Amino acid sequence: MTQRTQVWLICACTAVTVQFVLALTSQYPKENDNESITCECTEKNCQAVFWYWHSLDSPGKFQFLLYHNNADKVVYSPSTSSDKYKGSKKEGTRTIYSLKISHVQKEDAGRYFCQVQYPNNRNLPGGTGVELRPGETPATPPPTPPPPKTNPPCRCRKKVIKKPITGCGHLVLWPLVGLLAGLAVVLIATLFYFSRLPKKCHHRFAKAKS
Ligand SMILES: *[C@@H]1O[C@H](CO)[C@@H](O)[C@H](O)[C@H]1NC(C)=O
Repeated sequence: MTQRTQVWLICACTAVTVQFVLALTSQYPKENDNESITCECTEKNCQAVFWYWHSLDSPGKFQFLLYHNNADKVVYSPSTSSDKYKGSKKEGTRTIYSLKISHVQKEDAGRYFCQVQYPNNRNLPGGTGVELRPGETPATPPPTPPPPKTNPPCRCRKKVIKKPITGCGHLVLWPLVGLLAGLAVVLIATLFYFSRLPKKCHHRFAKAKS
C-alpha cells in the first residue's frame, strides 16, 4: 500500500468517526418525565429490536436492556426493571421501535442504542444512538454567523451603461471579451490561411474580387 493511500484511508476513517460522534443525538427530558427513544428499521422486514445502554460514567459497560419482537414478545434482561422500561413499535412503511423509560432519573443518564434484527438473523445497529441527559438543559447553539455579504441582485439592463466594470458589469463584460477573442482567433486563422495559399490562388482571388 502506498503512503498516499494510507494517508487517504486515515483521513476517511477520521471523517467517519467524527461523523459518528457528531451524529449522536441528545435528549433532555425533565426528571420524573417519561421519555421515549426511537429506533427505525431501514428495510421492510424488520423482525425485532434489541435495546442496550451504558451510563455516561462507565462508557465501556454496555448493558442489554430488552428484546422486543414484532409479535410483541418482550424479553427483559434479569437486571432490567419491567416497570421502568417498555418496548413498543409503530408500524408504517417502516417499523419504528421505541424504548419508553418511565420516571426518568439522573442515574438514567447515558447512551441508548438499538440493534435491529432483519431476516436471516442479521443484526444491524439502528442509527447511532441517543444520549439521554435528564434534568439538563441543552447547550445553547453557538451564535449564528452573520450572513455573507452579497452583491445586491442584478438589474443588468439598467446598470450596464452606468457601471460597466463593477457588479452587474461582469455579466456583460466577460462574454463580450470572449466574443472579441473568438473573432480575433477567426480573423488570424483566416489571414494565416490566405498567407499560406500559393501565389496563383492569390491572383485568382484578386481577379475574382476585382
Ligand atoms: C409515565 O408513564 C406511566 C406509566 O408507564 C404513567 O402512569 C405516568 O402518568 C406517566 N407520566 C407522565 C408524566 O406522563
